[in-house]
Amino acid sequence: MKEKDKKLTDIIDGMSLEDKALMLTQYPIDSICGNKEIVTGCWDMDGMTNDMIMRVGTVLNVANGETADRIRAIRKENGIDDPLMFMLDVIHGYRTIFPIPLAMACSFDTELVEECARIAAVEAAADGVDATFSPMVDLARDARWGRVMETAGEDPYLGGEMGKAYIRGYHNGGLACCVKHFAAYGAAEGGRDYDTTDVSERNLNEHYLRAYCECVKEKPEMFMSSFNLLNGKPLLAHPELTVDKLRDEWGFNGVLISDYNAVRELNVHGYAATPRDCALTAFNAELDIEMCSPCYANNLPDLVREGVVDEKSLDEKVYRVLKMKDRCGLYDIDKSTDTQKRDKITLCEEFRAAAKKAEERSCVLLKNDGVLPLKKSANIALVGPFADEKYIFGHWASTGRADDVVTVQQGIERTLGRTVESEKGCSYDLLSDDESGFDAAVRFAQNSDVIVACVGEHMYNSGESHSRADIALPKVQTALLHRLKTLGKPVVLVVFGGRPLALTDVLPLSDAVLYAWQGGTECGSAIASLLYGDAVPSAKTVMSFPRSSGQCPIYYNHFQTGRPRASGKPAVLSGDICTVGYDDEYNDPLFPFGYGLSYTTFDYSDLKLDKAKMRRDGKITATVTVNNTGDRDGTEIVQWYIRDKFASVVRPVKELKGYERVELKAGESKTVRFEITKDTLAFFTDGGAFDAESGDFDLFVGGNSRDCLQTGFALVD
Ligand code: NOJ
Repeated sequence: MKEKDKKLTDIIDGMSLEDKALMLTQYPIDSICGNKEIVTGCWDMDGMTNDMIMRVGTVLNVANGETADRIRAIRKENGIDDPLMFMLDVIHGYRTIFPIPLAMACSFDTELVEECARIAAVEAAADGVDATFSPMVDLARDARWGRVMETAGEDPYLGGEMGKAYIRGYHNGGLACCVKHFAAYGAAEGGRDYDTTDVSERNLNEHYLRAYCECVKEKPEMFMSSFNLLNGKPLLAHPELTVDKLRDEWGFNGVLISDYNAVRELNVHGYAATPRDCALTAFNAELDIEMCSPCYANNLPDLVREGVVDEKSLDEKVYRVLKMKDRCGLYDIDKSTDTQKRDKITLCEEFRAAAKKAEERSCVLLKNDGVLPLKKSANIALVGPFADEKYIFGHWASTGRADDVVTVQQGIERTLGRTVESEKGCSYDLLSDDESGFDAAVRFAQNSDVIVACVGEHMYNSGESHSRADIALPKVQTALLHRLKTLGKPVVLVVFGGRPLALTDVLPLSDAVLYAWQGGTECGSAIASLLYGDAVPSAKTVMSFPRSSGQCPIYYNHFQTGRPRASGKPAVLSGDICTVGYDDEYNDPLFPFGYGLSYTTFDYSDLKLDKAKMRRDGKITATVTVNNTGDRDGTEIVQWYIRDKFASVVRPVKELKGYERVELKAGESKTVRFEITKDTLAFFTDGGAFDAESGDFDLFVGGNSRDCLQTGFALVD
């Protein structure tokens, strides 16, 4: 271990055991100053006196510089010198809200993500926040899970790239950050948030842990442990992950923080019988900060006095927390909020423009039978529950304000320079069966040239603790679309969702589908730009879109079985038996990973390798020609996939290994390059080593994971 900073060890030498335990305790804002700013969980004081709460080392959910200043002053008056550190979930923006992370990942644009994270950090830091609990890099394979909206989707490589971009952005904007939720939280059974996970060591290493491990390279200040049981034990009872893997193997030397109340939940899980056992279990897993429960505060001092816990290891944990505060400069400056500076930058034009660009690059065009882009002279009928709705900015934006949001109607008005009306037709409530607004919507649309229907799920039906069993469009909205279809006019769907919804039933009712996710403050203006062709769609799906809820979990990088079903069709249609599949559903998704249309078209040709065989210390350069064959400029996201055909353990049918956003003028061609080395081919072999095995490989390139050009090469000894 590196030499310790004497300034910090001197502080630790002067601390009582009680102060040390409190330094490792995080409490919510309202327990300190009575302000209920943001609530992200339930808590009770459970033995913590007011005096103890006053002396905790870090606090969460402050979203206001003046409150932070007031708390600092209260602590000073009470003789507490140590600088408190303020933490908050700044997930997809602070006041300027960006699209949800799942949407942003569809841009495949790490520079854009980095810039948006920087802006979020700049706004948050100016308002008293020191650290954010982001990025979340959990792998998401099951669209029923509400928290897929916070992830980068189903690909581990892309998840790592996006995670690193967020970290760089936060650091550039002056915010410390936290990679979460370690580990495998996304594998929740049945897609139910917080539920049990059971993941083999191989699956964990190859898929679930990959992005967390990648993120360590950008030196995040914190990692957060997850709520879930993993293979029969709560995460905080897995020192082989939190110590051997995270700290020893990956070299993470920052702070490990628990999730909200998760230390006390070791008891609820049926693992630790008392709060003392909870504290001891977490301590042995090298947990540094306990969030929102008091097991450390109430038990660590006695555990040291009784000789059960070594004070040196307690000091190690305290040191890591102080080191983080020091890295954030908290010992060097007397912080106070510069309200003038804050108010000047908050939600400024530059930040709004970035939010608009982010949503333009996040919306995925799933279908277009030629109706988009719309003509500005067309007489549109804007309908649906989200046509003039402000709550389209995304669930994890607690400091965002609906009033700041541009609705689709407002966006269209700005684009056209005239007023536009809209008709809801029905509610967005998931279980509503109220069709009383249908007639008005149909009358409203009767004389239009084209219907633009804004449908989907409300932003509060995804996110933490908002999982869904049925991810089709709510029934009342589907019924509304059936009624509108009877008018015989072209129908454009603008679909809002915190997850890929199962759109099978509504696809035939539409002529175009723009998947808008939940798009932040400038959601409506970006959608209008895309609808009218001022911007051209370029995003690609980062989760497979299931045909029905029963297909979940579904992901492109699955294994080949011994009995693949060649037709991929339901057995009742194909008669296929004794092969993998359903009697009543197709095997493939409605839209595959990596899929998305543009207003132009791209053609791939001339896939070439500079050699067909590569030695272990060599490299192969692959090239492909991508041609914009349409009459508009556009951007194509070129995707490179590999399959290792035979190996000591079976490899996925395809794995994303590289991607590039390529801008092409109408008619233009470009040669796109991809380099393959041994590292590109490495995986956890049967012996456990991360290495490449000699043999044959397939290389695929294309504009999505399904429709690719293909060639092959070999790795030789
Ligand atoms: C619980 C969530 O799981 C986590 O992501 C979040 O950072 C904490 N609450 C704090 O709000």
